[in-house]
Amino acid sequence: VLDCRQREFPGLQQKFFNSAYYGPSPLRSRQAAQRAIDIEMNPVDFPFAKWRDIPDRVRGALARLLDVSGENISHHASVTEVISYLSLGYPFQSGDKVVLLEGDFPSNILPWMLNQERQGYEVCRLRQECFADPDLLKRKLPVRTKILNLSHVMFNTGRCFDLEAIGSVCRERGVLFVIDVSQSLGGVQLTQEQVNHCDVIVGATYKWLLGPYGHAFAYWTDESLRAVSNVHLSWQTVQSGVDSRNLLNYTIEPLPGARKFDRGQAPNIIVMGMLEKSLELLNEIGLDSIENHNRALVSHFLDHLPKTQFEVITPIGSHRNIVCLRQRDLSSSSNPLEDVLRANGVDASVREGGVRLSFHLFNQISEVDELLEILHKAQ
Ligand SMILES: Cc1ncc(COP(=O)(O)O)c(C=O)c1O
Repeated sequence: VLDCRQREFPGLQQKFFNSAYYGPSPLRSRQAAQRAIDIEMNPVDFPFAKWRDIPDRVRGALARLLDVSGENISHHASVTEVISYLSLGYPFQSGDKVVLLEGDFPSNILPWMLNQERQGYEVCRLRQECFADPDLLKRKLPVRTKILNLSHVMFNTGRCFDLEAIGSVCRERGVLFVIDVSQSLGGVQLTQEQVNHCDVIVGATYKWLLGPYGHAFAYWTDESLRAVSNVHLSWQTVQSGVDSRNLLNYTIEPLPGARKFDRGQAPNIIVMGMLEKSLELLNEIGLDSIENHNRALVSHFLDHLPKTQFEVITPIGSHRNIVCLRQRDLSSSSNPLEDVLRANGVDASVREGGVRLSFHLFNQISEVDELLEILHKAQ
């Protein structure tokens, strides 16, 4: 982890604490993109056979991060797409319930709202506290809950939920547990136990996984693959799509595993080429080392933060890779925090006196110290 900033992120000139918004791509991805652009500009001698296996290679790299089989990974345009497919492909009966987190990111809310009448289920949004206490969750979970879907780490507070505790309640009640790891995986590792407690894991790949914008993935257990039908089918994920001479032998029988959910044009050579390289870097370093590194940065930051000036919004103890702060006395500040951070070369998400700070593998203790000094002076 230690020397990867210079080697892999030489273009990152800011004090960059904004992976929750948009993670930077490593240098090796640029080389992959360049090769892909060369092909785009001269696609001569680039037959079907050369790009057919790209989705499977990226499936394998994502699977390695989670220690699962690539057969259970699907490729998507966005988290919204996965949640939409779930809302349309799950066999709901009238009166079934889908339980969501009040205040969650819209990708985990809007598709459920859109399709509730068409599919006959009812959306029920529970407060954060319900997911932080398994006994409360058991009491609040409506009887006919079929699916529970929420973010692992919340995008606006950095609060992290206990996957094993929530997953156990879901298993006990026969509820499909769908977790969005867009704000965690890559910056933190998911343990085997955590993965085993989830039925569907979905994530955008352009944040903590350091891919380019424009892609997401999902992991499905064998049971969830059986339970959810596909409502879309790409010609590239049916048997007749395997061989370009066989295309008109129409079939809707999908290729095995999670491929039935794959987006169209998944072998996008620029996006997938870059993503393959960022995943290679993460796999090379190991998510356990990255998580330890990030945890040390966050602890150092919290230990030295001027607490008289800033209130930590993220619930300490339920925090991981993101820390959200609010300036205590906004009226006494002569300069808005956003201006102070920008003037001092800090990139972070700032809203209404609050700041969201993301700590990732390319950040260093010295950089955290510089950030602390800037915050100390921000009056
Ligand atoms: C928790 C969470 N999920 C998903 C996304 C991205 O969603 P989508 O892939 O639907 O654009 C974000 C983006 O900020 C997010 O914070």
